[in-house]
Amino acid sequence: MSEPIVPHHATATRPAPLEDEEPLASLDRPGRPDESPDGEPIFDIRDLSLWYGEKRALNDVSLRIPKQRITAFIGPSGCGKSTLLRCLNRLNDLIDGVRIDGQVVFEGQNVYDPSLDVNLLRKRIGMVFQKSNPFPKTIFENVAYGCRLQGITRRLELQEIVERSLRDAALWDEVKDRLDDNALSLSGGQQQRLCIARAIAVDPEVILLDEPCSALDPIATAKVEELMQDLKDDYTQVIVTHNMQQAARVSDFTAFLYLGELIEFGETDRLFIKPERQQTEDYITGRFG
Ligand SMILES: Nc1ncnc2c1ncn2[C@@H]1O[C@H](COP(=O)(O)OP(=O)(O)OP(=O)(O)O)[C@@H](O)[C@H]1O
Ligand SMILES: [Mg+2]
Repeated sequence: MSEPIVPHHATATRPAPLEDEEPLASLDRPGRPDESPDGEPIFDIRDLSLWYGEKRALNDVSLRIPKQRITAFIGPSGCGKSTLLRCLNRLNDLIDGVRIDGQVVFEGQNVYDPSLDVNLLRKRIGMVFQKSNPFPKTIFENVAYGCRLQGITRRLELQEIVERSLRDAALWDEVKDRLDDNALSLSGGQQQRLCIARAIAVDPEVILLDEPCSALDPIATAKVEELMQDLKDDYTQVIVTHNMQQAARVSDFTAFLYLGELIEFGETDRLFIKPERQQTEDYITGRFG
């Protein structure tokens, strides 16, 4: 890894933090800030461990994810990024033999509380996957899908939601004349933005993105990254990425995971410029992974 990683904030797009502001994370309490400089956390992950059968994939992870910010999970392949992301909306429940210990508190409620309505949770926390996965339906029906599941059937209302979601996903101009075409006829980058439109159509509070750009070319990647910035004021976004330049460009906060452990969490600017842990430094400078 020879290319230097320059966080987007390092180009002075944001005011420098006040001197008396608490750092988000300290060496003693990685990821457990008493006060986030950017406001309230939306997720409070507490001592979270996860096993696939006998194999432990997450080891006592504690982390607070700030609301209406972009948080990136980085780390080498197999370190538990996707596993941690899937814990946030209980997608790991669908995998046989998974055991989870600890808590994920989302807006004050433990998502692993047995009385919790998982369908409602997944409506509030949408997900976009690495491989865009539009349904083999029209563009319109893909975006309307979640709303139909919620019982919205009026054509006019659906039309309004579909248009708004496609506009918000920066795709409307490209597809407005072909809403009845099969979604699979779109390009890969368009399909990924369609999946984002489908996720935001049901008005979630959080969007989880697991390597959303890894199958996209640089232009399509730039569009998705731009879109993430546009959506920032309205949603909390958590992105898993292999690409450290991408984490540095798009995220406000970064969590570095290694072998199922959270090694370091903090503001992206600080973590990339002045990592506190040797392992973080080794990883971001390309010495391993
Ligand atoms: N369904 C599963 N069953 C058993 N083990 C699993 C399963 N999913 C993941 N694992 C294991 O858990 C560990 C963490 O996997 P995870 O997919 O979370 O890593 P990751 O950081 O997302 O990796 P990558 O960057 O390659 O996507 C790995 O050792 C992986 O082999
Ligand atoms: Mg993964």
